[in-house]
Amino acid sequence: AFTPRVFSGIKPSGDLHLGNYLGAIRRFVPLQETHETIYCVVDMHAITVWQDPEDLRRWTYEIAAAYIAAGVDPTRSIIFNQSQVMEHAELSWVFNCVARMGWMARMTQFKDKAGENSENVSLGLFAYPSLMAADILLYKATAVPVGEDQRQHLELTRDIAKKFNHDFKKQIKSAGFKDEFFPITETLATGPAMRVKSLKDGTKKMSKSEASDLATIYMMDGADLIAKKIKRATTDPAALPSEVAGLADRPEAENLVGIYAALSNRTAEAVLGEFGGQGWGVFKPALADLAVSVLAPIADEMARLVADRGEMDRILRDGAARARAIAQPIMADVRNIVGF
Ligand code: ADP
Ligand code: NA
Repeated sequence: AFTPRVFSGIKPSGDLHLGNYLGAIRRFVPLQETHETIYCVVDMHAITVWQDPEDLRRWTYEIAAAYIAAGVDPTRSIIFNQSQVMEHAELSWVFNCVARMGWMARMTQFKDKAGENSENVSLGLFAYPSLMAADILLYKATAVPVGEDQRQHLELTRDIAKKFNHDFKKQIKSAGFKDEFFPITETLATGPAMRVKSLKDGTKKMSKSEASDLATIYMMDGADLIAKKIKRATTDPAALPSEVAGLADRPEAENLVGIYAALSNRTAEAVLGEFGGQGWGVFKPALADLAVSVLAPIADEMARLVADRGEMDRILRDGAARARAIAQPIMADVRNIVGF
């Protein structure tokens, strides 16, 4: 039977936070039941902006450890480090020659990240979506569990696949492929998309690059620090509403209720059913206890794993070898089709 293949990854560009956990890592786990799962630490994406090499290496291990600590089984899933499978770079070069400058120039995330300074950002940042397309198509992944912020990049992945399939139609046919060589990858719906917001500004997403440290709950924060950050989270003074409709125009309240719901696997309705009418003095300590009960065991396991370099290297080497076993035959076909 055909098992659909999923590829996803996180950049080692900062300490992992609650948004990475609820929005990405936690969702990787159940996909193992239904899909062939490939989870990557995308260090080549990370260096599109400056990364201190020591930090890059530390975060690379930290992300791989987080996948495992959160429940991704390295014997069922392929967990590896992008730079260790050089076919990612090779295919992205071919895609750089398939994709058009205009396609890249339209990417809103590039415009946001480059800002006023677009003459002075790296060429890699501009070409980032081409490497992302290579990550996905190197494994002919049919579905990727990406968030709203990656929707445009996935659209571009489809455009690259279509143009490659079209430009090399004749060669693809004579290489023995029926119609398309690369699949047209779909977004995988994995339940309502969770957007965790900053604890200091309920309209901004929680991010590795957030300026204020108190605004972000990191996966490796200890119990006291998590409690302190939640206690100091910005809120309005009103009590919690008993209906979800009462969260409209209260982004900070909506964020904290959403976090509570996600961490407890309940709906916001159910959370408000319990806490409606209560003040923050009741809700915040309950949220802190819940966050600690979920994150502390994961943080402990992450700490144990990152301290065991030998074990981590063994897992990443094994993952890279299994990734290569899929990628190399596909890349050999690409080389043949392109005329290399
Ligand atoms: P960051 O924005 O922290 O640098 P990345 O861009 O590396 O994180 O994203 C890694 C994964 O984590 C992606 O799947 C992304 O959608 C998810 N993610 C990042 N921040 C959040 C957030 N605040 N809420 C939900 N998911 C998030
Ligand atoms: Na980011």
